[in-house]
Order: sequence, then structure tokens, then C-alpha cells
Amino acid sequence: MPNKNYRIVQLSDLHLTGDNKDYRSEPKLFGKLKGMNDAFHNLASNSIVRESDQILFTGDITDKGDLKAWTFFWDTLEKFNLKEKSTIIPGNHDMCCLGARLPKDDKKLVADDLKKFHAGLAIGNCGALKYPCTIKLNDQIVVFAIDSCNKGNTTAITNAMGHIGYQQLERFARMLYKFRDIKVKMVVLHHSPNIPSNQTATKRGVEKMSELDRWGMEMPTEDRRALRLLCVAHKVRIVIHGHLHRAEDRRVNSVRYIGAPASTQPYNGKFSFFTYEVTPSGAKVIPKLVTI
Ligand SMILES: [Fe+2]
Repeated sequence: MPNKNYRIVQLSDLHLTGDNKDYRSEPKLFGKLKGMNDAFHNLASNSIVRESDQILFTGDITDKGDLKAWTFFWDTLEKFNLKEKSTIIPGNHDMCCLGARLPKDDKKLVADDLKKFHAGLAIGNCGALKYPCTIKLNDQIVVFAIDSCNKGNTTAITNAMGHIGYQQLERFARMLYKFRDIKVKMVVLHHSPNIPSNQTATKRGVEKMSELDRWGMEMPTEDRRALRLLCVAHKVRIVIHGHLHRAEDRRVNSVRYIGAPASTQPYNGKFSFFTYEVTPSGAKVIPKLVTI
């Protein structure tokens, strides 16, 4: 048994661009964010990140999925010696169609989206990952990484929707059973499987979302319910996600759900991200929102 806490850092929604002066894609005319590349470089040099045991990138590593942005990502990981302890989960900006394309054979569109993501991974000599996948961090901790992107979309309106699908859920169920004896099970995905209703948002003190935003960001009810049921049945300790660019920490049917802020976006001039300290016996997982 290890004699010190195992520290996981979650970095999310970096939205890296080809050039540091490029603006982040966001649905507003004025006040778009830029400087994400410099912000990531600073994060990567931070001692909390560098001294962590594992880094989980919960999607939207790039803003448009372009190879220059991926190159910057991998070069930065190499520079700070972080690559070996990094796990990548895709976000809609890494994979999906952000503009418009002609509808054609769905399978072909999905294959195109996967190809785009895999090209980004290949720059870092990271093989094509098949989701869900498991990463056993030590004898006490296993991470289940899920692809929640709505691959094969044809319009910008549908690019941010979540989707897991029966096949991934079925494989996820089998993986949970296989690792049933591991104490700390973490589920990692990009999309929020729990966007609160307006009433719940008020109760939790988080910003309410319009019906349209919810429709455009949420994953289908059956996916959310199946994921939740599997997590409860197999005593998953924590589900972490990104996508909404806001910090959230809540319990849903006994499972803790953490939503990450965008790590390269300043909030009141500071950058923030979550860390998870797992105690040596695996008895506790302690999330902490760190501000630097
Ligand atoms: Fe994002």
C-alpha cells in the first residue's frame, strides 16, 4: 500500500489554438477569450500540476481540432515532462463538426470525426484510443474514460450535444464488473451527465441555463440514466466532467459529480482547476478547487 496520497489533477477545456492570438470559438460577438496557449503553458509549469501523479484532460484540448493546436499541446507536455502521466478524453471541439457539412452516410461522418481526433493524438505518438477504456492508476484506483461526443453531427447547433450510446454503456458495464474489487472507481467524460433544472440550479447556487442551451449541451435522458444507474450499482466514487466551463460539485444518488471550469479561462484574474487526493487506503477521495 502506498504511504502518501495519490494526487490527480483535472485540466479541462483548454481550447488551444494554432496561435496564441487566436480567439476561442464562442457564441458571442465581443469579449471572446484569447491567450489560452500562454495560460496552458503557465499551468503546465505549475508545481501542483508537475508534482501530480496523474493528469486527466477532460476534453476540448483544442478549440478547432487543428494540428497546430495539438502540436502545441504535446510540445508543452513534453517540455514539462507531463506526457507519461496524462490521459486524454475527447471533447466536442476536438472531434465534432463546428460549422456545417452535408448529411451523408452517418458511419462515414463518425469515421471522419474519429480520424480528426486520432490525427491529433498521433502527433503525440498516442495511439487511437477506443472508448470506454480503463486506466488502472494503482491497486486502489481505476479510471473509466468515456467518449461523450455527438460524433457525426452536421451542424454547429448539434456539435455540443452529448452522446454515449448503448455500445459504450454495455462495455462500460462489463468493465465495471471486471474491476469490481478496486476501491476507487472514477468516471471521466467531457459532457455533464447532470445539467440541473432551473429549480435545482437555484438551490445549488449555479447559473441557470436556458431551455435552448440545455437542449444543445445535454446528453439523451436514457444515456444519463443508464450511466447513473451503473455508477450507483457499482459504487463509482466520483464522476468528473468539463464542457460547461464552470465549477460544480454535487451529489446525485450518492455519487459525487464534479464539473470543471475551463482551466485556461481566468476567473477574476485567476485560473482554477480541480485536484483529487486519494488517501493511501483508498478510503477517501478529496476534491479541491485550486486557484493559482
Ligand atoms: Fe469547452
